Amino acid sequence: MAHAVLFVCLGNICRSPTAEGVFRGVADEIAPELQLYIDSAGTSGYHAGERADSRAVKAAKMRGFDLSKIRSRQVHPDDFDRFDLIMAMDNENYNNLIDLANREGKSEHTIKVKMFLSYAQQSNYTEVPDPYYGGEKGFDLVIDLVEDASKGLVQSLRDNN
Ligand code: 4NP
Repeated sequence: MAHAVLFVCLGNICRSPTAEGVFRGVADEIAPELQLYIDSAGTSGYHAGERADSRAVKAAKMRGFDLSKIRSRQVHPDDFDRFDLIMAMDNENYNNLIDLANREGKSEHTIKVKMFLSYAQQSNYTEVPDPYYGGEKGFDLVIDLVEDASKGLVQSLRDNN
């Protein structure tokens, strides 16, 4: 069964592109048979069309993940139909996604929206902290958290196949 997974943050230039790239790398490496369709988007359109933040691209590259082809886009109501899983990076993104689905008459799809870090196994973080206004360390923490959750999510998709 094919799975389409969408990662969502606020701007789609820091956390969710990192999640997209890291999850793609982890899935390709440990479960290529899953044949996943992976994308990311922002609840806002502030940065639509932009590349991922250069600090995110650099931090990911250091860890072996490629974000260079990713361009920011805003979440579209059709995403609730097109994707099987929609992964929110923090509580605010989660609440905005649920509100959007309800507003667009797609309440039956709210079950697809999950907190990404609910799949993490190595840390107690429940949200991926926004690194935009901080230093480089924040971007490394994002990679640690999304790599952990990516492994957990791949495992979960494998178990359910
Ligand atoms: P992201 O980070 O949601 O992880 O992409 C942010 C990027 C931009 C802004 C906020 C957060 N901004 O306010 O422009």
